[in-house]
Amino acid sequence: MSAADLSSLRGRHIVLGISGGIAAYKSAVLVRCLVKAGAEVQVIMTPAAREFITPVTLSTLSGHAVITEFFTANTGEWHSHVDLGLWADAFVVAPATACTLAKMATGVADNMLVTSYLATRAKVFVAPAMDLDMMAHPSTTANLDTLRSRGVDIIEPAEGELASHLRGRGRMEEPEAIAAALARHFAAAGSLASRHVMITAGPTRERIDPVRYIGNFSTGKMGYALAAEAARRGARVTLVSGPVSEPVPAGVDVVRVESALEMLDAATRAAAEADICIFSAAVADYRPARPLAQKAKRESADRDITSVELVKNPDIAATLGSARRPGQVMVGFALETDHEAEAATAKLARKHLDMIVLNSLRDPGAGFGTDTNKVTMYFADGRTPVATTLKSKADIAADILTQTISLT
Ligand code: C5P
Repeated sequence: MSAADLSSLRGRHIVLGISGGIAAYKSAVLVRCLVKAGAEVQVIMTPAAREFITPVTLSTLSGHAVITEFFTANTGEWHSHVDLGLWADAFVVAPATACTLAKMATGVADNMLVTSYLATRAKVFVAPAMDLDMMAHPSTTANLDTLRSRGVDIIEPAEGELASHLRGRGRMEEPEAIAAALARHFAAAGSLASRHVMITAGPTRERIDPVRYIGNFSTGKMGYALAAEAARRGARVTLVSGPVSEPVPAGVDVVRVESALEMLDAATRAAAEADICIFSAAVADYRPARPLAQKAKRESADRDITSVELVKNPDIAATLGSARRPGQVMVGFALETDHEAEAATAKLARKHLDMIVLNSLRDPGAGFGTDTNKVTMYFADGRTPVATTLKSKADIAADILTQTISLT
């Protein structure tokens, strides 16, 4: 059997709840497997689980102190079940005994594991492990049905020899298979298969005459990184690009434009079919009111220009944001120098967007022309903003798309 692709586990926060059953020894292998795949694992044990495996083994493998009690006995330090529940991208209970499943189904929050389960917003998985008769008992079946109906994923136990030496259904699934189930979940959650994504990128150029223009320093790197990442996740991608020298990423359809008016035209066309629109272009706010058909000349009195009258360009994001179809997701960018959060959230509302990505200008390595960036994402639905660290534009693109997908 070939090893499962666990790459989607990289960087994920996983809470592993261990309840008291013989299969708890396999949880050590599960921690190892998840950590090796790049996940961060925080273990919570029920008091009974400590009879089967020691917290020392699990804290060593996970690199985090194991939590079993609401308080640390000697210091009185309170362990917040809410923080852990919110930290988790996935919450896995393995092994899940008949008792823990019953408590989860009925909300009996008398230990840290069940309490954290009740506080989490993450996807929950349970890997039942018990004797065959307990597994087949109507109360266990009913509890599993209740959990399933609430969106919990049951990683079905396998048939085989049980701790009682009886043979039957109730063996906890192997750690590698549990890790693979989590990886499949994250891979599917991050997928853009069968989605159409439209991205505007780069600067625009507004002609003064046939050889001169008004432009800006945008290199298009962020928009091109987003296009590459969306294509990698299986999307059909239309990249409406101003003049830049970035190579077009594999699998991306590019529509090249020069001015803001051309970009508006191409973006409007692409948005008509797109499920997601991302406006990362640095569109020139103004264009010359009357571009000259002939080159301006200092030595020719009728073509000597010392000033250029400007008119406002249309706001592409705001135009398409207010004309959006139901279900269409719209994401914009903001680059601010002062009152950043207020300015970004005001723009989010004014342009009818779902999310706005604030570029930090304060951090060296963030913004125009660099290969790295650091952003904060603000949401129209009022959820807590998400801030990234300084990292490559490819990694920032992955973070932006992960948040975007959560809005679809
Ligand atoms: O208003 P401001 O230019 O700061 O807004 C930035 C956001 O709006 C970006 O997402 C940018 O791509 C978009 N925008 C646009 N058309 C304009 C100006 C900005 O799509 N004319």
